[in-house]
Amino acid sequence: ILDIKGGPDEGLNLLGETVVVKGWVRTLRVQSSVTFIEVNDGSCLSNMQCVMRSDAEGYDQVESGLISTGASAWIQGTIVRSQGSKQKIELKVEKLITIGKSDPSFPIQKKRVSREFLRTKAHLRPRTNTFGAVARVRNALAYATHRFFQENGFVWISSPIVTASDCEGAGEQFCVTTLVPTSREAGDSPVNAIPKTEDGLIDWSQDFFGKPAFLTVSGQLNAEAYATALTDVYTFGPTFRAENSNTSRHLAEFWMIEPELAFADLDDDMACAAAYLQYVVEYVLENCKEDMDFFNTWIEKGIIKRLSDVVEKNFVQLTYTDAVELLVNAKKKFEFPVQWGCDLQSEHERYITEEEFGGCPVIIRDYPKEIKAFYMRQNNDGKTVAAMDMLVPRVGELIGGSQREERLDHLEERLDELKLNKESYWWYLDLRRYGSVPHAGFGLGFERLVQFATGIENIRDAIPFPRTPGSAEF
Ligand code: 4AD
Ligand code: MG
Repeated sequence: ILDIKGGPDEGLNLLGETVVVKGWVRTLRVQSSVTFIEVNDGSCLSNMQCVMRSDAEGYDQVESGLISTGASAWIQGTIVRSQGSKQKIELKVEKLITIGKSDPSFPIQKKRVSREFLRTKAHLRPRTNTFGAVARVRNALAYATHRFFQENGFVWISSPIVTASDCEGAGEQFCVTTLVPTSREAGDSPVNAIPKTEDGLIDWSQDFFGKPAFLTVSGQLNAEAYATALTDVYTFGPTFRAENSNTSRHLAEFWMIEPELAFADLDDDMACAAAYLQYVVEYVLENCKEDMDFFNTWIEKGIIKRLSDVVEKNFVQLTYTDAVELLVNAKKKFEFPVQWGCDLQSEHERYITEEEFGGCPVIIRDYPKEIKAFYMRQNNDGKTVAAMDMLVPRVGELIGGSQREERLDHLEERLDELKLNKESYWWYLDLRRYGSVPHAGFGLGFERLVQFATGIENIRDAIPFPRTPGSAEF
């Protein structure tokens, strides 16, 4: 007896075999002569159609209602050609065992349920077609990410989750501290339980880390330390931002992929970003056909064509200055007017890639230094930095990267200008003191990549358990 995984398309070679399938009941239709039980084990999108006659062993579980939508089941039978048009094979049931029955309150019955509703059932939504498919494609993207970098000689670095450094200098960090009582009851105790110094300031010496520590907003600074030793490295891990933006593109906890290349400039960085995106998109198109067909039909019509174009076409490149000019001259009226020096809003980014360049990814480079982070390398014009953002349709900014300021004097000057505390960046400055080299890197928001590759509209549906303002359930 074969213990199989997979739905009907996988099984033509199994015709005539006795097999066991284990999974969860998606639907159950009792007819006078036969009962159809659709079972899914998550290995693929399609269900195994199990056809059960009343003389099969365990039929009493159908009669008593013990087996129902949502239940888990162990089903043994023979693989036969299906009479139906939806699938090639089906399982002729010989024996059924209900492993775990499902309460009638099971919230995901056959009728279509909204994604807003499913967010309130994040623990059960992986049992739907959409979330099963998103999980498999997300997994394939992660696998393809490691493959791309490993095949190109990059070393994967685990950057720390807890850190005292603020990479982006934007003050959007979550504080990690033992000064606030953490037991549920003690958590309600007055704030004055926090130890204070004589001057009334928080007494960090009594904290676990002895000073303020935060959840990382980016592993970049740590990646730079390893790039200036191992040459090409990448991180792939969770990052955290306490931005209070309730949008379809922001999460408080998201995964970031951050390659860092030594002996490299902004052009090398952009080339790496384009090659990476094309590689992972092609991987998903080739290896997730069933799920991609599903997205193409149900989530975003034409997504397969859109992604195939990404693999084939060269990406558009333009400077920030040209992008601003293009936006100023655009016929479209924007909510936020554009002028040189302003940060581009999502509406601008989407206009450029979706309308101006017909869905092609666009890389914008050389941004004003005022709107970018302290570590970016200054261009000779004194106004811009060697930064780049990659914009893609539906998502807007998918990637943000730059060549790093490798010149110690320039970097120190910039820290002073921005009134950032030089002492706290002492180790980062050391990298410029001892064998500094031109280097560059970028950060890609993994959930935005999942949105881009699946067509899913809201970033909350691109990660299993989303963290957003006011919401850390599950
Ligand atoms: O542009 P960002 O802020 O760049 C950095 O953090 C650099 N240190 C990266 C680097 O050069 N190593 O963020 C990089 C990407 C963005 O382009 C976006 O895709 C994603 O991270 N991102 C978010 N994704 C989801 N939710 C959020 N709140 C995000 N903030 C940034
Ligand atoms: Mg950015």
